[in-house]
Amino acid sequence: MSLDLSQDAMDALNQQLSEASARDVITHALQNFGDNVAISFSGAEDVVLIDLAAKAGLNFRVFTLDTGRLHPETYDYLERVRKHYGVKIEVCTPNGEALSEFVSEKGLFSFYEDGHKECCQVRKVAPLRAKLQTLDAWITGQRKDQSPGTRTEIPTIQNDTFFGSEDNTLVKYNPLAAWSSERVWAYIRANEVPYNELHEKGFTSIGCQPCTRPVLPNQHEREGRWWWEDATKKECGLHVINIDDK
Ligand code: ADX
Ligand code: SF4
Repeated sequence: MSLDLSQDAMDALNQQLSEASARDVITHALQNFGDNVAISFSGAEDVVLIDLAAKAGLNFRVFTLDTGRLHPETYDYLERVRKHYGVKIEVCTPNGEALSEFVSEKGLFSFYEDGHKECCQVRKVAPLRAKLQTLDAWITGQRKDQSPGTRTEIPTIQNDTFFGSEDNTLVKYNPLAAWSSERVWAYIRANEVPYNELHEKGFTSIGCQPCTRPVLPNQHEREGRWWWEDATKKECGLHVINIDDK
């Protein structure tokens, strides 16, 4: 990996990539990291990343975190995307022992009582950490407009100091940072990109089934996620760097 990860170099690169198209940002990631970068696909509208990568004409990797609590529609969708793009989706699952211990101790719905952090840690964050330890960079579908409480400042590229370390550096690309929801959907329609059918049932932001609900017209999409919690806590740990940075 040849990127200079000093803060000054990353700031300059972020400035440059913020003005580039999302496809060019993805191309930058694929050209610089090859097989050591992967797209983190949640089974929702971030499918745009896969479509852009396919159009960039370079080999790319995709992984997803199967928490075991996704909607049936999302599993169906993961399969449709796999076939549509002819892409292998690397499925990351929670550690069996840790999960068994957690649900035996606290049941299957503890997040409604004491917050989502513990469950997300076992089902999403630990498997993600394990995956990222095998990579030098990852690409996410985060956008500034997704979460007023936590995402308004996300850069196009950043040094991921939460999952990476000095000895094991990790670069995080957010090529859609500046895209609005409208732009994502205009892209999906114009390019006939397959989408999760939950979007036809009022769901905007899609995560795990027990922690996601449809939103009403003009309600912010994030209100459909962990609705019993404060807006500033609505990060499950995948993007906790957004909170730490503040
Ligand atoms: S979350 O932190 O609240 O769950 P969100 O659903 O907004 O995240 O998705 C933001 C980005 O995080 C996605 O575009 C994707 O890159 C990554 N992500 C979220 N959930 C998953 C998942 N289950 N598997 C892989 N990547 C995910
Ligand atoms: Fe658990 Fe909900 Fe987090 Fe999914 S989103 S891992 S079900 S707390």
